[in-house]
Amino acid sequence: MDRLVVKAPSGTYTVSFGPAIWREAAQLASAYSQVLVVSDTNVAPLYAERLPFQVLELWPGEESKSLEMVAALVDDWARRGLDRFSLVIALGGGVIGDLVGFAASIYRRGIDYVQIPTTLVAQVDSGIGGKTGVNTAWGKNLVGTFYQPRAVFVDPSVLETLPEREITGGLGEVLKYGVVQDGKLFAQVSRDISAFYQLDLEVAAPVIRRCVEIKAEIVAADERDLGLRHILNHGHTFGHALERAGGFSFYHHGEAVLLGMLLEARLAHLLRLLSREDLVKIEAGLRRVPLEYRFSHLDKGEVLSALQQDKKNKQGRISFILPRQIGSVEEVLLSLEEVEEYWDEVIRA
Ligand SMILES: NC(=O)c1ccc[n+]([C@@H]2O[C@H](COP(=O)([O-])OP(=O)(O)OC[C@H]3O[C@@H](n4cnc5c(N)ncnc54)[C@H](O)[C@@H]3O)[C@@H](O)[C@H]2O)c1
Ligand SMILES: [Zn+2]
Repeated sequence: MDRLVVKAPSGTYTVSFGPAIWREAAQLASAYSQVLVVSDTNVAPLYAERLPFQVLELWPGEESKSLEMVAALVDDWARRGLDRFSLVIALGGGVIGDLVGFAASIYRRGIDYVQIPTTLVAQVDSGIGGKTGVNTAWGKNLVGTFYQPRAVFVDPSVLETLPEREITGGLGEVLKYGVVQDGKLFAQVSRDISAFYQLDLEVAAPVIRRCVEIKAEIVAADERDLGLRHILNHGHTFGHALERAGGFSFYHHGEAVLLGMLLEARLAHLLRLLSREDLVKIEAGLRRVPLEYRFSHLDKGEVLSALQQDKKNKQGRISFILPRQIGSVEEVLLSLEEVEEYWDEVIRA
């Protein structure tokens, strides 16, 4: 079994890869007094039977990441008699992972949980690192905890059943790791985009593993997102603004991040941080992901007002994580007026 260790200050755990994870997860779980798999109605019928435990199925979708759902979950767990020595297994995408991780962190003041991420986003990003949480009317991920799982199990073959749009979204985060930390990874993934849509595991599985490795290093250095972990916000400042300006329904998160990365690379070049050569490489690499790279429909006022509400803002300035070359980024703070000045250039076709 291929394993990797995440050394977070609050706890060390392993991420295991490959088709044998199901057996390994069952083995780990057998030491607990009771085990419950929490999944959604898309994922459970496909994969839950690989685990010999009772299953709770929730509605899929972002709406399930709510405080109401947390209340329903902990009631359900109490009704089933889950005690402090019980284990919950989050089997699904980032929604299930964030929700179940959060509920596990507060149920009986914290019980163990493991992640079995089943989307590309969850396998390379949300399943690792212990950020849990739910949304409220006041914001996405407004309520949550840092609470590391007992273990993470990644079987890339489950991506076979993932809708194409979810692959696209995941590729946004994968390419982000490349720009932020690993130029070779960026070049390789952008060359092999189709391996993800056709799910060629010989190509995709090592890429997923490399992303987990990068995330694990960053989490080990900055578990609580006080410094270094910010670099993972590359693409996310414009990305979140596009999501918000689109009323959260036009773009999926990962798509918005891909477009955000493109806009932020252009901004970096305009600020003389990134060479033209690297900008061309980034643009070409990103554009290999099938997505509409069109910005003319964007309403400048809406995007700027969304930027103004970004929770990463510092003293009224907007925080961007911009590439200075492929594989390395830095934080740049800009006033809204400065962003406005560059806007037309940034969104040019
Ligand atoms: N905690 C973190 O560090 C972190 C990082 C990034 C994102 N997130 C959160 O993750 C969430 C998004 O997660 P996501 O992109 O995984 O979306 P998701 O969990 O909503 O899953 C997307 C869809 O795919 C379905 N699905 C999942 N696995 C499948 C499979 N193998 N086959 C077929 N269908 C499958 C789901 O039922 C759902 O309909 C957001 O709420 C975001 O805030 C958290
Ligand atoms: Zn993201």
